[in-house]
Amino acid sequence: MAEVVRFFIDGKECMAKNGDYLLQAAKENGIYIPTLCHYDGLKPKGSCRVCTCKVNGRLMTACTTPIAEGMMIESNTLEIEEMRKSIIELFFVDGNHFCPTCEKSGYCELQALAYRYRITAPRYPFLFPLKRVVADYAKIIIDHNRCVLCKRCVRAIKDEMGKSFFAYRRRGQNIEVILDKRMSDRMSFEIALEAENICPVGAIMAKRTAFTTPIGYRKFDKITIGSDIEKIKTK
Ligand code: FES
Repeated sequence: MAEVVRFFIDGKECMAKNGDYLLQAAKENGIYIPTLCHYDGLKPKGSCRVCTCKVNGRLMTACTTPIAEGMMIESNTLEIEEMRKSIIELFFVDGNHFCPTCEKSGYCELQALAYRYRITAPRYPFLFPLKRVVADYAKIIIDHNRCVLCKRCVRAIKDEMGKSFFAYRRRGQNIEVILDKRMSDRMSFEIALEAENICPVGAIMAKRTAFTTPIGYRKFDKITIGSDIEKIKTK
């Protein structure tokens, strides 16, 4: 089997290692595909669908699709970009994302995607679901209003034995992330910060750390999400 394969994204000839995920392969070729549940180094989950592309005419998630010789991929088309925009809007109406009062504002990937897609107000009605804010853990607060169920925290934040601090409970509409009580007692401040950072939105916040960087000086206050990848393309 060939080590390196040739494929096309929006007509551009690209090369990547056979079997690499499309998301990574696109990145290596200077093409940004938006993501939300993906995190470099974690096993892809394919839950948010923000990275949806057309692969040989079929809708597939770029983070879970291995690249193969001759693949024809559509990513930056009106149809796909409109679909991604709708998915992002649905996240906003499905939860309660009050950006102006969120400590993650300026670092939040959902907010940054909304900026990128120039979403000022979603085209769908807000559902205003009743969600809990759980502040009785020693080191963190979990705000379920903002959780996008990406499972990054469950997949990434583990103890030295590989046991996850976080888990899902319930199913369907009622599914939510919880922190195991015994694990919560063992959570260090460093792990709490790690959990805050891995969360793409403001659903997990480490206690006693808020507003160290003023709004206006934060990451996505200055750069557009994905622009660092697109820069490679123009070099
Ligand atoms: Fe691919 Fe979420 S980033 S499905």
